[in-house]
Amino acid sequence: MEWVGVDPLHQVVSRDEAMELIPWLSMRWQASPPESGHYFWWDDDGLALKSAALDSRSSLHIDFVHGAQARRVKAVTGEALTRAMGCQKGLRPSIVDTTAGLGGDLSVLANVGCDVFAMERHPIVAALLQDALRRAQEAGASWCERLQFRHADSAERVSHVSHGVIYLDPMFPKERKAAPSLSMQVLHSLDQTTDDPERLLEAALDSGAARVVVKRPIKADVLGGRVPSSQVKAKTVRFDLYPKRKLTDDDCASFHGVMDA
Ligand SMILES: C[S@@+](CC[C@H](N)C(=O)[O-])C[C@H]1O[C@@H](n2cnc3c(N)ncnc32)[C@H](O)[C@@H]1O
Repeated sequence: MEWVGVDPLHQVVSRDEAMELIPWLSMRWQASPPESGHYFWWDDDGLALKSAALDSRSSLHIDFVHGAQARRVKAVTGEALTRAMGCQKGLRPSIVDTTAGLGGDLSVLANVGCDVFAMERHPIVAALLQDALRRAQEAGASWCERLQFRHADSAERVSHVSHGVIYLDPMFPKERKAAPSLSMQVLHSLDQTTDDPERLLEAALDSGAARVVVKRPIKADVLGGRVPSSQVKAKTVRFDLYPKRKLTDDDCASFHGVMDA
């Protein structure tokens, strides 16, 4: 499928360099927005997604260098997420993030010192994340060195996991009230491919990971009827823990060369 890209400033060199990292998107570039549908936008802030049906200020754009996510990455040391993963003094387990999404959780985990291998299946979300990671790396974010990212279906790769923690953060059930931000309006207007988080959880539990962690809305049922051994609770979400063995130093080894085998 060919996507429409809008590059009003005609920044061909920087644009084409960035797009080399996103080979899964075929793009037809033009100078002004189309009259209907979603389109990509390219400017000095990198790649964003907009919708002709929404206000042109609405855009889905990931930014680890400025704004709220940058502040969250810098601030976090002991939030529920890192506790759920088993981070403690002297132990930073390696993590396979099977549902990378907008990269909020993976950036926090890599920043506290975990080696992270992350996958995102949706081509548009994966493109926006890949470009945001490029910009973070160019801005000198050292946590990017601990991160490997792939546009991939993680259900096809979790069986390769031999150690560390597998993290699942599937889309919340539909009845959850829609998030109000402009970026979320665009995200919710995208066609999401059918989620099958139960299958992902079963594959994760069958792998060699020491622990599987699932993020759920605080009041939601457990995923796939699988009762966790324990839970770490935050205000609106909780993390269901499925430990298979005690985490050791071996679970902090990098995933280099393991997950692409
Ligand atoms: C709720 S979001 C994850 C949010 C993420 N934890 C964050 O902090 O931004 C869920 C994401 O998982 C992706 N996803 C669902 N199943 C997947 C799979 N089997 N492989 C890769 N990505 C998947 C969806 O496309 C979606 O972008």
